[in-house]
Amino acid sequence: MFPSFPVKLPDAAATIALGHEIGRAARAGEVIALVGDLGAGKTTLTQGIMEGLGYKQEVTSPTFSLVQEYLGGRLEVFHFDFYRVEEEHELLDLGWDDYLERGGLVIVEWPSLHPGLLPKKTRWLELRHTGEGRIIDDLRNEGV
Ligand SMILES: Nc1ncnc2c1ncn2[C@@H]1O[C@H](COP(=O)(O)OP(=O)(O)OP(=O)(O)O)[C@@H](O)[C@H]1O
Ligand SMILES: [Mg+2]
Repeated sequence: MFPSFPVKLPDAAATIALGHEIGRAARAGEVIALVGDLGAGKTTLTQGIMEGLGYKQEVTSPTFSLVQEYLGGRLEVFHFDFYRVEEEHELLDLGWDDYLERGGLVIVEWPSLHPGLLPKKTRWLELRHTGEGRIIDDLRNEGV
């Protein structure tokens, strides 16, 4: 059963646990856009999603490459970070369209920097700081 948003995430373990649920429910071909400031918990949520998919290896922000591929879980996952992408064509040259077609799960940190690349079906989630913890909300109904 999927939680109703917004969800309070008092600590990092809560972010992982929610990610785990998202990972368990994820379907082939989905795209998840993770909005949120520096340190909001986007990578942490992705770690939970990968845990929920049964992926056992390390999951980190794709800092030195634009994408990290996680193979071996229930779905193949392509984890993008648009933070250092200046032009859309950098992603298109990398094969963005092919990644969308590969029948895996695409996860994007900093999606708002190049929103035009995200397909209509994209699920937009936003993480926000609140006190020591975070809140996550689903932006689907806000026309983002
Ligand atoms: N719900 C939470 N409450 C408190 N701390 C959290 C929570 N979720 C994650 N954190 C912590 O916040 C820190 C930053 O998390 P993370 O690296 O996932 O952020 P990010 O959004 O990916 O940042 P960046 O924009 O730099 O990629 C980590 O130390 C993580 O453990
Ligand atoms: Mg990150």
